[in-house]
Amino acid sequence: MATESSDNTAAATVGTDDEFVRPIDPGQYNVPDWEAVAGPAAADPQAFWEKEARELEWFEPWDKVLDDSDAPFFKWFTGAKTNIVHNALDRWIDGPRRNKLALIWRSENNKETRTLSYYSLNREVNKMANIIRSMGIRKGDRVTIYLPRIPEIFYAMLACAKLGAVHSVVFAGFSADALRDRIDDSESKLVITADGSWINGKIFKLKDIVDDAVRHAPTVENVIVVRRTGHEVQMDPLRDHWLHDLETLPIANGRCETVAVDAEDPLYILYTSGSTGRPKAILHTHGGYMVGTYSTFKYVFDIREEDRYWCTADPGWVTGHSYLVYGPLLNGATVFMFEGGASYPYPNRWWQLIEHYGINIFYTAPTAIRSLMRFGDAWPNRHDLSSLRILGSVGEPINPEAWRWFHHVIGKDRCPIMDTWWQTETGMFMITPTPSVPLKPGSGTRPFFGQEAEILDDAGNPVADGDEGYLVLKNPWPSMLRTLYKDDQRYVDTYWSKYPGKYLAGDSARRDKDGYIWVIGRTDDVIKVSGHRLGTAEVESAFVSHPAVAEAAVIGLPHEIKGNAIHAFAVLRMGYEPSEALRDELRQHISEHLSPIAKPDGIEFVESLPKTRSGKIMRRVLRARAQGLPEGDLSTLDD
Ligand code: WT7
Repeated sequence: MATESSDNTAAATVGTDDEFVRPIDPGQYNVPDWEAVAGPAAADPQAFWEKEARELEWFEPWDKVLDDSDAPFFKWFTGAKTNIVHNALDRWIDGPRRNKLALIWRSENNKETRTLSYYSLNREVNKMANIIRSMGIRKGDRVTIYLPRIPEIFYAMLACAKLGAVHSVVFAGFSADALRDRIDDSESKLVITADGSWINGKIFKLKDIVDDAVRHAPTVENVIVVRRTGHEVQMDPLRDHWLHDLETLPIANGRCETVAVDAEDPLYILYTSGSTGRPKAILHTHGGYMVGTYSTFKYVFDIREEDRYWCTADPGWVTGHSYLVYGPLLNGATVFMFEGGASYPYPNRWWQLIEHYGINIFYTAPTAIRSLMRFGDAWPNRHDLSSLRILGSVGEPINPEAWRWFHHVIGKDRCPIMDTWWQTETGMFMITPTPSVPLKPGSGTRPFFGQEAEILDDAGNPVADGDEGYLVLKNPWPSMLRTLYKDDQRYVDTYWSKYPGKYLAGDSARRDKDGYIWVIGRTDDVIKVSGHRLGTAEVESAFVSHPAVAEAAVIGLPHEIKGNAIHAFAVLRMGYEPSEALRDELRQHISEHLSPIAKPDGIEFVESLPKTRSGKIMRRVLRARAQGLPEGDLSTLDD
């Protein structure tokens, strides 16, 4: 099924279809048995979702659960009025969860802790909402959030949602160029940022990047700056405001009415990489997204009143949106957020935090597991990890070796691993077990309740069990993306045109004899580097923005820790000579002009790139060359 542009480079992930890991005591979980929910949900998915929606509060009920009259522009809970913040915060304030911890935050230097009850988180969100409203932010306005992992990112996201404004969170590792594109594309009026962030004991100067990004941004009227690192920054007196100054104003009081919005009103946009061209702005809405994240979090993590839940993802990615901020708060859970990374200053940092805070549910990524595994068992073994009950994995296929290590060394063979397959587009888990389901290391098991997946060949026929094909989802689901912001046509083309009526995920997969799905990797020009999603086009355009580079092509190559690493081929302009110094300069250039995540591991200087007669770069050939493998059929190569 390899297509000419296929960048399907997943690391060795092949598990065995017969290796079952069964729960020690399936009865210990509060959530109902899989079959008890799956059967009725399969028979009537809309009834399942309607029942889930009834567990939440709505200002006005819906006329219809699903409106598919304008497919693939599906609408959910039409006619209903709600606000996700009403369900994530407001409804807890007058009840027994008022004083329950909503958020526990720990600083990267390990010296600061901040804890917020639902009552105090709500107050902080209200203050922020009043502040941004005083700057003219109203329902439908876009706000760009460029913040590190600090509690203020919760306040900022929830304050926007509360007012019906649309947040666009940009991961605080993206360059000024990438940030500028996203601010311009979303036409944000306001940017919320910090002076800097702490990364491995060093300051990363966020405000400087924002200054660079908004210098010529026509839409940005105000920039709110959180003081985090305390170093000196430039403040434009007309545009920039310290949050701690704004908080002293009478307007910043702790009460603020939550705006009632339509279920289908936009909640956020989140930019993610696609096959071609510019990043895609995925649009999610209040009602359906709320139901989807609430329900999946509840069933998959078996959340209990006394639990402490930790998701290591950054709020800048969809995992942070759905399962650090919204899903947990919609369930009234206690969330832990850590500002720092996994192995600074030592590789026991996460294990120490699990022990210290008594974390019960721990959700992380295969790349992190692989990198920590490398340091050996002694680091986790120094800590009491007995509070753990459920583990989770997301972002890319988890190779069985990493799965087994996570299960045995971290989970002591007691904690099931929820391997959750989903995407920025899907908003919620789509292929996932629940805790009582028998697992197979490396497989996300089966589609979530009410969903059906298929594996198809190029012509749209289901492939035989065990064969690889294109993964599609058959049923609409409440938290599905509604469109690509300002680009309905691209939405239809990207997801709904290869197989009309079916959602094309962009992944290849196979299904085994037990109906378990094994996701293999991307089928498009998306490369997953340490679980982060990068498009070859973005990286290539960062390359050619350097004066030495005439043309560039990038591919993903299997990497032991990152899953995939970026490998680049560059054709130099006249007057430039290949050198080690130029190689370093280019790597630095990519890091500064796109993101450190996109830094290529290898750069090869070449005279030309292999292309088809129609001018398409043959990545398959490049990959074979880079790995020293046979180049295969070259009949379409233009010589
Ligand atoms: C792509 C979506 C959704 C959260 C973070 C990533 C890959 C994600 C898994 C998994 C195998 C996975 C797929 C998918 N992926 N989770 N459990 N097993 N592959 O979101 O950045 O939108 O990327 O990540 O390739 O299409 P994203």
